[in-house]
Amino acid sequence: MAIVINFGNHKGGVGKTTSAAITSYLLSKTNKVLAVDFDSQGNLTSFLSQRNIYDFEGKTVLQAVKEKNPRPYIYSVSDTLDILPAEDFLSTLSQFLYKEYKGDPNLLLKETLDVVHNDYDYIIIDCPPNLGEQTINALSAADYAVVLLQSEPFCFDALDRYLEFLESIQNKTNPKLLLAGILTSMLDARTIIDTSILDQARIDYEDIVFNTVIKRRSRIKEFTITGISDHTKQDKTALQQYMEFTEELKQRVQK
Ligand SMILES: Nc1ncnc2c1ncn2[C@@H]1O[C@H](COP(=O)(O)OP(=O)(O)OP(=O)(O)O)[C@@H](O)[C@H]1O
Ligand SMILES: [Mg+2]
Repeated sequence: MAIVINFGNHKGGVGKTTSAAITSYLLSKTNKVLAVDFDSQGNLTSFLSQRNIYDFEGKTVLQAVKEKNPRPYIYSVSDTLDILPAEDFLSTLSQFLYKEYKGDPNLLLKETLDVVHNDYDYIIIDCPPNLGEQTINALSAADYAVVLLQSEPFCFDALDRYLEFLESIQNKTNPKLLLAGILTSMLDARTIIDTSILDQARIDYEDIVFNTVIKRRSRIKEFTITGISDHTKQDKTALQQYMEFTEELKQRVQK
């Protein structure tokens, strides 16, 4: 039975996809993992597959949810890491949900992933930067939510709104959803504003904030182009912080 973990925040460019991708990769070292790209930008798809997202046209999570069967659309990155890819047409999901689909529009992804629930130890879902149907479906399918906080004032201000949104999902569509924690990403430790936002987050949200903080590292950005590797010292240094986060996450989501 998989533990389903969602990476989200309605703010754009805060490290959701990068964190979902590297966490999926690290978890897959010792577990069977399915990474679900539920953002029509397809960034998780290109990050993990290192292929052009249009290679997957007609073979994505959109077809999987329409047929409520992910199996034909799962792409294997390695023996232990699979992805359910996305590309632009995922943005037509709401049209399908409200014009054609007869069931509960909030639970379509959950019902689709239930088909492969026993095939994986972890299912990781990457969300788009909004609070629309895709995010509602992704959170309704999850056991745990990881909330990204970029140490940046606009993102900090939006955090309460996102946490309220999680609560509304718990009340309406997914009572078993739990908050795994708030992950601070892209911290520039040399910048006073960044460290003061982290300090404030720890005061306001206490131990909900993960102890691990993801710092800004150019190698992490390069991974999006080169794929994730752990050969050089630079690779290992960049991955180390995510290794610590992954261990902390595993502890927090133990069933
Ligand atoms: N720790 C890091 N160090 C340096 N660059 C990073 C780090 N984390 C993410 N980035 C870069 O920041 C940018 C935004 O990251 P990412 O795409 O993961 O954010 P996102 O929240 O998924 O964005 P969106 O809201 O558009 O989906 C990317 O160019 C990524 O390579
Ligand atoms: Mg993203």
